[in-house]
Amino acid sequence: MEKTFIMIKPDGVRRGLMGEIIGRIERKGFKITKAKLVKPNKELVEEHYIEHREKPFFNELVDYILDGLVMAMEVEGENVIEIMRLMIGHRDPKVALPGTIRGDFAHSLTENIIHGSDSPESAERELSLWFK
Ligand code: TYD
Ligand code: MG
Repeated sequence: MEKTFIMIKPDGVRRGLMGEIIGRIERKGFKITKAKLVKPNKELVEEHYIEHREKPFFNELVDYILDGLVMAMEVEGENVIEIMRLMIGHRDPKVALPGTIRGDFAHSLTENIIHGSDSPESAERELSLWFK
């Protein structure tokens, strides 16, 4: 069965949205097979976002993820990678539709509540990074 890596980012945890987000995942019929509430170190977060290391927003992004607890999860289900990306919604808050997690709860480009792997390769890489 397909698996993806989902992370509720520090603003999601701080704002008390863990229950809402976990509820949506469960009601969709997906299974949360691993979960941990953690304060990751800088090395892990930089490795997680390695594809963005040359981008101008990289340092701001890493500092934001380090600013509190995150909920790291392995979520399992048929086509879970693509479907979770749909449920998460677009990265641009001006494009994220109501009904998606970002569309319903975020208005910031950086502080956007949740991460979900974007491909089978990222899912495998990210799951092995966060649950090694
Ligand atoms: P990206 O992988 O493009 O988005 P997604 O989270 O939907 O996979 O970018 C990773 C994160 O980087 C994104 O969630 C928010 C942050 N980010 C910025 O802070 N500024 C930016 O200009 C971009 C493109 C992303
Ligand atoms: Mg991405």
